[in-house]
Amino acid sequence: MKWIIVLALVGAALADSEEFVTVTFDDGVNVNNILTYRETLYNRRNTNGCPAGATFYVNHEYTNYQLVNELYNNGFEIALHSISHQTPQTYWQEATYDDLVKELADQRVQMSHFANIPFEALSGVRIPFLQLGGNTSFQIIKDYGLTYDCSWPTISYTNPGLWPYTLDYASIQDCPVRPCPTASIPGVWVQPMVSWSDLNAFPCAFVDACIFIPDRDDADAWYRFIVANFERHYLNNRAPFGFYVHEWYISANPAVKQAFVRFLDLINNLNDVFMVRFYHHEPSV
Ligand SMILES: *[C@@H]1O[C@H](CO)[C@@H](O)[C@H](O)[C@H]1NC(C)=O
Ligand SMILES: [Zn+2]
Repeated sequence: MKWIIVLALVGAALADSEEFVTVTFDDGVNVNNILTYRETLYNRRNTNGCPAGATFYVNHEYTNYQLVNELYNNGFEIALHSISHQTPQTYWQEATYDDLVKELADQRVQMSHFANIPFEALSGVRIPFLQLGGNTSFQIIKDYGLTYDCSWPTISYTNPGLWPYTLDYASIQDCPVRPCPTASIPGVWVQPMVSWSDLNAFPCAFVDACIFIPDRDDADAWYRFIVANFERHYLNNRAPFGFYVHEWYISANPAVKQAFVRFLDLINNLNDVFMVRFYHHEPSV
């Protein structure tokens, strides 16, 4: 028997009591960035004793599949971020259904094989550059038995934050990077990327894309910046709080890394906050 838990299903029922934190890293996994992952993420636990989760959106280029396997075996979620991750960005905007089947559905087969991860465990999608292409990638999620997308930022629904939802009804979410899906595609989950607010209240979907930021050498100021964004969720409707970042930003800025670790230490000690994967696959017995 298979048990599949989608964060949002649990989260929606517990909106008043629990705060989920979703940490994600994008792009190739290799000998350069695995050190940061080992150092900052491994062996963390939530206060209920369960391992703390994080999600990796992995593309093929510069990926060492042995290290992807290591991440998976340490309890982290691996999700799809395309085979080619190619430029220009307009490729993703204009990609046909067949193009995206090759980039995503085929990547699932490839990833499962080379990283030795159960096929069913690979269930989420993040499109490169967050460049959606209308209905197409969401239709592929449905047609190929995937579960969710996490490529769609919201800048309108940040305070209070937007909860994950399905496309059973056509979405009313704002569309910062056009075109977004307008179809109803039942069963497909949208994990919206609820934007942070930078120091001048400009939105940023990725932490490394925030413009008005604390001094990159000031770990205390960075910690306060992270916590201020967290509290917009935690002290409000408790929509999941995303920490979406690329590894280079953490390793290039030791003070940011220090603040990141301090923040994870904080939430791993709060009884009502859980650092989780989006998707959890329980293997058949
Ligand atoms: C998406 O699907 C809706 C509903 O079927 C349709 O009206 C719309 O034109 C589609 N969008 C694109 C870009 O094909
Ligand atoms: Zn990427």
